[in-house]
Amino acid sequence: MAGEVSTDLERELGEMLEQERFEPPAEFRERALWSDPAVYDEAAADPEAWWLRQANELLDWEEAPSEGLDDSNPPFYRWFADGKINASANCLDRHVAAGIGDRVAYHWRGEEGEERDVTYAELLADTQRFANALKGLGVGKGDVVGIYLPMIPEVVVAMLACARIGAMHNVVFGGFSAEAVRERMEFSEAKALVTVDGARRKGKTAPIKQQVDEHLGVLGTLKTIVVVRHAGTDCPMQEGRDRFYDELLEAADPECLPEPMGAEDPLFILYTSGSTAKPKGILHTTGGYLTGVAATHRYVFDLKPESDVYWCAADVGWVTGHSYIVYGPLLNGATSVMWEGAPDYPSHGIWWELVDRYGVTILYTAPTAIRTFIKWGADIPAESDLSSLRLLGSVGEPINPKAWLWYHKVIGAERCPIVDTWWQTETGAIMITPLPGITATKPGSATTPFPGVAAEVVGEGDGEPVEQGQGLLILTRPWPSMLRTLYKEEERFVETYFSRFGKETYLVGDAARRDEDGYLWVIGRIDDVVNVSGHRLSTAEVESAIVAHEKVAEAAVIGQSDEQTGQAICAFVTLRGDTEHSEELVEGIRAVVAERIGKFARPKRTVWADELPKTRSGKIMRRLLRDIAEGRALGDVTTLRDPSVMEELEAKIGAYEDED
Ligand code: WT7
Repeated sequence: MAGEVSTDLERELGEMLEQERFEPPAEFRERALWSDPAVYDEAAADPEAWWLRQANELLDWEEAPSEGLDDSNPPFYRWFADGKINASANCLDRHVAAGIGDRVAYHWRGEEGEERDVTYAELLADTQRFANALKGLGVGKGDVVGIYLPMIPEVVVAMLACARIGAMHNVVFGGFSAEAVRERMEFSEAKALVTVDGARRKGKTAPIKQQVDEHLGVLGTLKTIVVVRHAGTDCPMQEGRDRFYDELLEAADPECLPEPMGAEDPLFILYTSGSTAKPKGILHTTGGYLTGVAATHRYVFDLKPESDVYWCAADVGWVTGHSYIVYGPLLNGATSVMWEGAPDYPSHGIWWELVDRYGVTILYTAPTAIRTFIKWGADIPAESDLSSLRLLGSVGEPINPKAWLWYHKVIGAERCPIVDTWWQTETGAIMITPLPGITATKPGSATTPFPGVAAEVVGEGDGEPVEQGQGLLILTRPWPSMLRTLYKEEERFVETYFSRFGKETYLVGDAARRDEDGYLWVIGRIDDVVNVSGHRLSTAEVESAIVAHEKVAEAAVIGQSDEQTGQAICAFVTLRGDTEHSEELVEGIRAVVAERIGKFARPKRTVWADELPKTRSGKIMRRLLRDIAEGRALGDVTTLRDPSVMEELEAKIGAYEDED
């Protein structure tokens, strides 16, 4: 088949799979920041003191913290509580003061080949001006500012300007629809929104500002919309509410001193999906978050800021972008690549051209991207010089061993260690990961917790540790970058993460297995959260979008295993009255989902159901739908009101499979 791994490569990868462990290459280990496993013991001996040391070593405090953890009121943990610090000053001012203001912070590359190198000094200048502009618009400490921007340097300026004045940013991923933006602005009571005239995607332009206007309606709290002129799209501007970013910047005072923030003052909110349709506003605070991302970015990626060129190919709208495109790299004075576009525009080789062009040494991406590159074929990366690479990272979902080995061989030329990093929006920073100069890796395992982090696998029923085998993943010790609450939903915070095993045990929501060497293998979510190409979605969220279609009576959504995207959305839909199903209706449903959530949430498969499997009390049994979608033997059906429903659906899904 075209684009499949060639037979020779397939055979070589097959042979490699026999190799159980991959030791760090000697050359890498010799130069690594951390090469002595004693770091694990040091951290374990006194995690609190160890983190306090990291906080003091890696950050520049206005008032240094005297204590690590305050655990007097679990699960409301506090870290470095008496410290004072400003995030933007740590990302920018201190580097400029240290004389490295001319260092490139981002090699920005636009879709059409435009290039812009943004230095630390330039970022600082713009950040100060935009911070003053925000102040002038009435934004102050504790206010929420929405940010809905594509991958352009202004997104970093907007985030850091908020941090500079103590406002919380609430970034919404550009792939979300304007309706999803409205919802997130409403939940967070945002005072201002920073967006763009238009966003470019694969040669086309989407009129973002116009879409925002169409959906935003009247939100009482939202007083200002700032528009970055980027794509040159015409956009309506509402007098008194809408302002152009460039005009604000020009009119603003160039100097804005950073606001000294308490370590526990909020830095940002980021909405993510949970078990219900309502997204959760994950709240991160300042000192602990910065400590967690600075330490992990430095030591997991073995970052040498003077010589490395680092590229995290995620979008800034997800937590990966917050922690490993913005805060981590800037705190460490790194030079990064920022790429505006998709992996397949203008060509399938664009990523590798960028690696070559900028001399990227560290690449951090997701398994779904790697699987796409596998499909396109190893000859595409072979056209570029990838010899600058020295370390590769993976994040977002479990990486299947075949993708791991391909990454290792085709991209890393068997020279680059791979760090498979497990973490979540909630954890703020990487939690389970190899250390590239220390850990022997196994393809598919995120290996062991970062120093100072403690994880366990426990039995579903009893919560007792499972020494070997599968169970629930938990984190058993508070860590500095942990979420502090769900914004405006404190009860939901306690209930979601700290009710199952008590207030001192964080329930991750993933199943995992521990092997005979103590390595952790994360299997996937145990709740109704689906992971599509590393994008986190709740089945309830998608269901509620689908039922908004006028012809739909009911919908049940599951995540179905998908070779390309990890999981794909599969929707079981019952129609109203005697509506006939049709291809047009499928597209109609997909359009509603795109409108209400975003294109990435559209069902890949729609199965028409006369009825959905329900318990006698009327609860939809998604578990059974998952069973048939995966072709597994059906679990217990005795609680179903009408067990014959399943036979009918099984026949349908079988028929669909034949079509594929
Ligand atoms: C969920 C968190 C972490 C930033 C991007 C996703 C899954 C994440 C891995 C990994 C296996 C992983 C988990 C987790 N996940 N990384 N290396 N191996 N699974 O953040 O959107 O909050 O999603 O992503 O299921 O719970 P998120």
